[in-house]
Amino acid sequence: MKLLVVGSGGREHAIAKKLLESPQVEQVFVAPGNDGMVLDGLDVVDIGISEHSALIAFAQDNGVAWTFIGPDDALAAGIVDDFNKAGLKAFGPTRLAAELEWSKDFAKEIMSKYGIPTAAYRTFSDFEKAKAYIEEQGAPIVVKADGLALGKGVVVAETAEQAVDAARDMLLDNKFGDAGARVVIEEFLEGEEFSLFAFVNGDTFYVMPPAQDHKRAYDGDKGPNTGGMGAYAPVPHLPQDVVDAAVKTIIKPVLEGMLAEGRPYLGVLYAGLILTADGPKVIEFNSRFGDPETQVILPRLTSDFAQNITALLAGETPDIIWTDKGVTLGVVVASEGYPLAYEKGVALPAKTDGDIITYYAGAKFAENSRTLLSNGGRVYMLVTTADTVQAAQDSIYSQLDYQKTAGLFYRTDIGSKALGK
Ligand code: AMP
Ligand code: GLY
Repeated sequence: MKLLVVGSGGREHAIAKKLLESPQVEQVFVAPGNDGMVLDGLDVVDIGISEHSALIAFAQDNGVAWTFIGPDDALAAGIVDDFNKAGLKAFGPTRLAAELEWSKDFAKEIMSKYGIPTAAYRTFSDFEKAKAYIEEQGAPIVVKADGLALGKGVVVAETAEQAVDAARDMLLDNKFGDAGARVVIEEFLEGEEFSLFAFVNGDTFYVMPPAQDHKRAYDGDKGPNTGGMGAYAPVPHLPQDVVDAAVKTIIKPVLEGMLAEGRPYLGVLYAGLILTADGPKVIEFNSRFGDPETQVILPRLTSDFAQNITALLAGETPDIIWTDKGVTLGVVVASEGYPLAYEKGVALPAKTDGDIITYYAGAKFAENSRTLLSNGGRVYMLVTTADTVQAAQDSIYSQLDYQKTAGLFYRTDIGSKALGK
């Protein structure tokens, strides 16, 4: 079987690498992929994620059995609908089902209609009304652009003035374009965050080990928000009854709700959760795998991934098996300056093998050579599985110390919350 993965980051590297491990899979294409993936025997194809017709033609010409869609913007643009119209199978939600991610207002409406625990909120398109609401509610308060804003459309405001400024940026000054034409203003929730993922077909779902991301750029959760600087799974200090409660009060009802709305969900559902004093509540839904969470979740899958997705796509029961051994932890190495301006073209250290996996994100071969150079904000990620968080940290950080590279940086505290630090 030949498969296609759409996307180019570390997430797609992890998905494609896992698919290629299946004995039934002879070739995995990744479009557009990145050159680092080539070192793992993956075939990168120079077609962008928004070129639906070219991707469809490629899948048809190359006998691709089905396609796994990685990124949110492709799903929001209806890539799955287009593949299906062409008679091709794709693993990911349709545009209407993916609205859970691409409109925060829609997600909030669904949650309120189906009684799913989340922060209290109001949606505004009029700045003066938003301002009046913020002043009435007081701070801290959270202002979110309704649409997709590359993870930058959320402002956790410590003062009412900051919140009003954020609402002004979005509603009057158009800083997020159409994504900020409406804003969701919501209650500030306090607690530890974690992510819960599930493989889904309709109202049937299979929960994955919980993971914890590290969104801020610097140690101690300081600095600007990024796509994610490291993660680990499972989360040892997260009680099983909290995960069970999240499944019962969040994952199950939202999928039943989507079915009732005539938007049956197929693909990966990502629930970004916060453990409040009243139990787990939803921060956001995403309609896809997380990056970097995927890179620490998928190495724990011991069943045949390609076989599992084939079964899900056919509406059959997949035999999904996870290891319960220790913990899988990964640290992202990024370009100095990320998530703001950064330089490209730094020569990367050799790929690790064995107990430490290297997943590439922003990496590109130098001209006429197989030397990998940095080519993006997040560059690569080292991932390992060990008995404890401490042991995993020791292993990853001694390797990172050894391969330290000028022009690149990483956080030194990934997983430390699990150690009570
Ligand atoms: P999002 O892009 O929705 O994941 O939001 C980015 C980050 O903002 C989250 O990871 C949280 O740390 C924070 N955040 C979002 N909504 C809330 C909320 N209602 N209360 C507290 N923090 C929040
Ligand atoms: N790790 C956060 C995300 O994928 O949205």
